[in-house]
Amino acid sequence: MFDDRTAALIGESYAGAGAAMASTNVSLVLDFYARLFAAAPRVRGLFPEDIVAQAEKLEQTLDMAVAALPEPDHLVAPLRTLGAQHARLGVRQEHYALVTDVLIATLAEAYRGRWTGEHEAAWRALLGFVSETMMDGATVRPAA
Ligand code: HEM
Repeated sequence: MFDDRTAALIGESYAGAGAAMASTNVSLVLDFYARLFAAAPRVRGLFPEDIVAQAEKLEQTLDMAVAALPEPDHLVAPLRTLGAQHARLGVRQEHYALVTDVLIATLAEAYRGRWTGEHEAAWRALLGFVSETMMDGATVRPAA
């Protein structure tokens, strides 16, 4: 589903962006939440006051998705479960586009100087797959 080139573009930019942020006080995922809440203050209330633990969970999921690029089928079941949980938390379909755009902007800024349109396209493919799979999980109703 993701060719070698796409996987390489995602892998190198994720590692490079993380390494660039490691030299600052703010991790990539904490920077992401700061940008998300600045762009969409209304979603702030969905999250707990202390965002640090949440940021770690998001980072683990991104790590898992990047590691699974050669075999993304492994992601389907956990992402569907995560999507169902998100629907119960009040997360709506339009939030996924917002999160995708902010995550891409966060990566592009951390990887600035090396980030290209090819990196953006590769991340859009991965995050599109993640979002679609989570939204699929959100629409499944338990059997009666
Ligand atoms: C790229 C897609 C996304 C991924 C990979 C992701 C990942 C996660 C993970 C791993 C958790 C922790 C679940 C747990 O505690 O077991 C979580 C929780 C949460 N996510 Fe997402 N998420 C995504 C999209 C979104 C979107 C679009 C929103 C809406 C703004 C959102 C809002 C939340 C909220 C409100 C929580 C619960 C926080 C709490 O009360 O502890 N997520 N997410």
